[in-house]
Amino acid sequence: MGKMEFAAPCLMGVEGICADELKRLDIENVRAENGRVLFEGDFNTLARANICSRYAERIQLLLAEFPVYSFEDLFQGVNKIRWENFIGKKEAFPVKGHCVSSKLSSVPDCQKIIKKAAAKRLGNSYHTSWLEESGSIHQIQFLIIKDKCSIMLDTTGQGLHKRGYRANSAAAPIKETLAAAMADISRVRPFSTVIDPFCGSGTILIESALKALNIAPGLRRSFAAEKWCASPSSVWSNERQRAQDMIRLDADFQAYGYDIDNEAVELTLENARKAGVEKRVHVAKRDIRDFKEDFERAAVICNPPYGERLLDMEQARELYKVMGEKFPKREGWSYSIISPDDNFENIFGRPADKRRKLYNGMIKCQVYMYFRK
Ligand SMILES: C[S@@+](CC[C@H](N)C(=O)[O-])C[C@H]1O[C@@H](n2cnc3c(N)ncnc32)[C@H](O)[C@@H]1O
Repeated sequence: MGKMEFAAPCLMGVEGICADELKRLDIENVRAENGRVLFEGDFNTLARANICSRYAERIQLLLAEFPVYSFEDLFQGVNKIRWENFIGKKEAFPVKGHCVSSKLSSVPDCQKIIKKAAAKRLGNSYHTSWLEESGSIHQIQFLIIKDKCSIMLDTTGQGLHKRGYRANSAAAPIKETLAAAMADISRVRPFSTVIDPFCGSGTILIESALKALNIAPGLRRSFAAEKWCASPSSVWSNERQRAQDMIRLDADFQAYGYDIDNEAVELTLENARKAGVEKRVHVAKRDIRDFKEDFERAAVICNPPYGERLLDMEQARELYKVMGEKFPKREGWSYSIISPDDNFENIFGRPADKRRKLYNGMIKCQVYMYFRK
């Protein structure tokens, strides 16, 4: 099979970071768009992106893009796709997707048409009128935005943020892909010291450690496309080996996490063990009010509690004030704090050296970054 086109949807604000990472993975023709990154490659590329990407939410095969103004347009566009190249005679192909600001607005109707068009094509290819769909799942995904339809085949299965280390989490855990993006913009390196004074389930510490040691986040999980007949099993083992060989055990990275809650401390230790970075992650119970560290250099990265109700908000803001006092300007130190509160800098007590807009799910946040002495 020749070159394939892929799409990696990612959190809004993370597109550039995601694109840069894919380029560093020697992937070709990488282009960042709103909410996704496009790139080209073969089955090795597909496996590499799934195993190695810290910031993509999933990897999709982008099969076609075409204008749609009617169900007939949709049927014809989908029927033209060479589904037989990817979906075997017995394999399953459920359909899901979204319609946004388009003439075709009924998701269930679009699902039915896409299913019918793909089934017709596969039936003709395999000379059968009955497709039993008992084999591995090929999730068809569609997106119709402003009358432009994209048809994708998901290769990932459970979202890429599911690394496998966080079966249990504290209240309000940060998404792994967002924590990884915070580590990236905070310039976490193999020799960094990272501190999270509100560590919860330890996501920021663990994602920072994985990045510093160059441990691919998908090394310990499987992916939907591994079960496809069309995908050679050797590419997955080769790419896992390649990722394994690139781990930097010589890195002297260390991470320190604190939380007021005993359970969070235990959880962070358990998750760090599951992620294989327990030797790098040190945790203790501590209130932010007692924050004090003597490292020469360190990157503090955190998502403090934020209140959705008035009372919670007052408590959250009280903590922002404490942080302002406990996080002084200091040579070699940086602070990256994610918050949805537009008033953060006022309460913290000084304007950020840099702000970066990121989305925590649907919540618009800013990472407030302080690094100037
Ligand atoms: C939004 S959660 C952090 C989630 C974490 N990043 C994760 O991925 O699980 C905020 C954490 O701050 C902790 N916390 C609340 N008040 C605190 C305080 N005064 N000092 C230290 N930790 C506190 C909570 O127990 C909670 O685990």
